[in-house]
Amino acid sequence: MKQHLIDPEICIRCNSCEEACPIDAITHDASNYVVRPDVCRSCMACLPVCPTGAIDNWIRVLADEAYPIEEQFGWSALPEEQPLPEGLEEDAADEDGAQAARAADGAGQAAEESVLDGTPSTSAGSGVPPWSAAHPYVNLYTHQHAATATVVGNYRITEDSAESDIHHIVLDFGRLPFPVLEGQSVAIFPPGEDARGRPYHARQYSIASPRDGERPRYNNLSITVKRVTRDYDGRAVRGVCSNYLCDLHRGDSVRVIGPLGSTFLMPNLAEANLLMICTGTGSAPMRAMTERCRRLARTDEYRGRLMLFFGARTQRELPYFGPLMRLPKDFIDINLALSREPGQPKRYVQDLLRERAEDVWALLQQPETHIYVCGLKGMELGSLDALRSVVEAGGQRWPDVHAELKAQGRLHFETY
Ligand code: FAD
Ligand code: A2P
Repeated sequence: MKQHLIDPEICIRCNSCEEACPIDAITHDASNYVVRPDVCRSCMACLPVCPTGAIDNWIRVLADEAYPIEEQFGWSALPEEQPLPEGLEEDAADEDGAQAARAADGAGQAAEESVLDGTPSTSAGSGVPPWSAAHPYVNLYTHQHAATATVVGNYRITEDSAESDIHHIVLDFGRLPFPVLEGQSVAIFPPGEDARGRPYHARQYSIASPRDGERPRYNNLSITVKRVTRDYDGRAVRGVCSNYLCDLHRGDSVRVIGPLGSTFLMPNLAEANLLMICTGTGSAPMRAMTERCRRLARTDEYRGRLMLFFGARTQRELPYFGPLMRLPKDFIDINLALSREPGQPKRYVQDLLRERAEDVWALLQQPETHIYVCGLKGMELGSLDALRSVVEAGGQRWPDVHAELKAQGRLHFETY
């Protein structure tokens, strides 16, 4: 059999493949993402969502000697393909052909599902970009050939008294080509090694600046990084990459791979509307898109509507709060959902979407409205549910509207 494997050296542990797999063949531990050989049917649903290509590895093995996931968890690199025992080469060639045909079948089935409902079956969002999106460059710099950028700015953007320590970090590429679009991301290698002596894997960060640079016409970009000091269960930890990034100084060098991402992209139309829903550092791509529109609007090249739903614990924890609130009200309709503001009821972005249902529905009915959701994993279901309520209150069937939004590249999620 051709065993499907994930390259632990290149994988950035973004979880996209595990989410895309329709039959739970992909799983992970604290160290590696792996494929269960007895479950994977080579349907290829995971291939297009992998930002680095780490997913696309196939090694010929005897079926009863396939690498079990327990062994894959321990790998630092992929094993070499071993020669097959004599006499089996010919059978293997036949089997390769049969397996390729099965894979093509699987891919065909996945493609058919894509046509029917927009994207591979397990994804709630579009697997395609908006039709008018500019064409992105992806993976110009890879694990083996990373780019080097220089830190030209590193500022805390949450109030000093706030618990969340979120930084706006500006990376300059000098004369090295690093063309990006709003909605794309980069991955950054923290220096050093993990407990098993392997170099740390790269971590992914959304780009927070527009395509023409954090500073217009400079070859730089910004990212928004939250210092991880507690794990998901609230235990004290020191997140490797986020702490490394938040502690960088001007003039320091960082190793960067990317650009990553080819679907979470904005439409390239003066009249397009953006409905942006985010929490915490999920505001990064929204900042990039808003700033792109703001720059274009100065010369009347952008005339659409922007509606933002932004969730944070308190106002002090909102990254970019000051600059955001200075934007003109007739340019962007801002809705802040604060969950722990003393004296105020707990609000999530989905609560505000429901409260503004009439206006959201008016926007959604326009064919050039695109929806972007970015931030905490938990908000994905909540936002979908709120969108369903909005659509149903507007008298339409959610499954129909949802399928159309997906198929037209108008509904995008990036949650982590
Ligand atoms: P690690 O050393 O990897 O983890 C330490 C421990 O903390 C582990 O137990 C881990 O499970 C836990 N942990 C990791 N992240 C969190 C968290 N956020 N909250 C609580 N516990 C956590 N991060 C940003 O700050 N800004 C971004 O714009 C951004 N964009 C992303 C885009 C994508 C598509 C993805 C997949 C992730 C994105 N991330 C972003 C998350 C980022 O890639 C890292 O996972 C994050 O910075 C933590 O890395 P670390 O090395 O500091 O922590
Ligand atoms: P909460 O007060 O319940 O944690 P964080 O600061 O952890 O990045 O979170 C950003 C905001 O997202 C917080 O207000 C947080 O509220 C909120 N949040 C947490 N879970 C969800 C969810 N499932 N849907 C929407 N918002 C959420």
